[in-house]
Amino acid sequence: MHRRDFLLRGAAAGAGFLASTGLQGQSPTPTNGEVVVISTWPFGKAANAAALETLQSGGSALDAVEKGVMTAEADPSIQSVGYGGLPNRSGVVELDAAIQDGRTFESGAVCSLQGYRHPIKVARAVLDQSPHLVLVGAGAREFATDQGFPIEETLSEGAREAYRKWRKKHPDGKGPASGHDTLGLVLMNSDGHICVACTTSGLAWKHPGRVGDSPLLGHGLYADDEAGGCVATGDGEEITRVCGSFLVVEWMRKGATPEEAIDETLDRIARRSPRGRDVHASFVAIRADGMTGAGSMRKGFHQALTRNGKTEVLSVPAFVDRTTDENKR
Ligand code: GLY
Repeated sequence: MHRRDFLLRGAAAGAGFLASTGLQGQSPTPTNGEVVVISTWPFGKAANAAALETLQSGGSALDAVEKGVMTAEADPSIQSVGYGGLPNRSGVVELDAAIQDGRTFESGAVCSLQGYRHPIKVARAVLDQSPHLVLVGAGAREFATDQGFPIEETLSEGAREAYRKWRKKHPDGKGPASGHDTLGLVLMNSDGHICVACTTSGLAWKHPGRVGDSPLLGHGLYADDEAGGCVATGDGEEITRVCGSFLVVEWMRKGATPEEAIDETLDRIARRSPRGRDVHASFVAIRADGMTGAGSMRKGFHQALTRNGKTEVLSVPAFVDRTTDENKR
């Protein structure tokens, strides 16, 4: 589709939606009591299940997103999150995570956290126990210790072996960074309340201290009960440049469907990034009325979607295959 057609289609659909529902500026439209969960990648399936279970056993929406993403943090076979995550170029695992409440905008985040397998728990403690929003590096670690979290080994056997091989190829420790499959999860509870969480080990072989989009509010995640919630996965630098998740939520506030909102954001990246369309960026979102959507610049991305207690892992068609490549550089 040509970019102009795409934008016109988006604007028309947005206007139609606004006229029919008056969503803009209104209180959240409650879903019919249905819980909706959407997350990134096939490993989101286990996260959605844990989130639902948490709600069913009386936990809050914030508890549910936290417990949901903890599943991937605990799984050593997932090399992009928590224990199992690949280290930086010095062989040290540095984890990023964030959590946000879409009703109050309260949030907590940790960046470049060493020594804890569950950065999302520390991020939640930042939200609950600290006057701050983001703690980084040594300060985040000090906070985690003060909160009573025990220090843990974070370099799994698989990650250690992968690092050994990488260093053999790059003896100076300066090979390219790669891989960025963040687990992001958006949940709407039966009251129409939205919470989001993100957790990642970031780019493998990254420069120590590098932080991507995932722990940054508005970039890797954003939630507003009045508009919707969104999380991102992909090249953190590219998603951060456009305030990706915030942009998706703001498009939904204006009436765009989640897919249109994500397409607008991918289009922004494609047109303005120095890398053009050669970017990995994917988003999943829930609008305030419970409508969900997913979008991805490139193929290979999957969403895990739970509605009516049933979860499906769905392949997401690539933006670059659906739209004209007029931004090619
Ligand atoms: N999207 C995860 C990262 O770039 O760190």
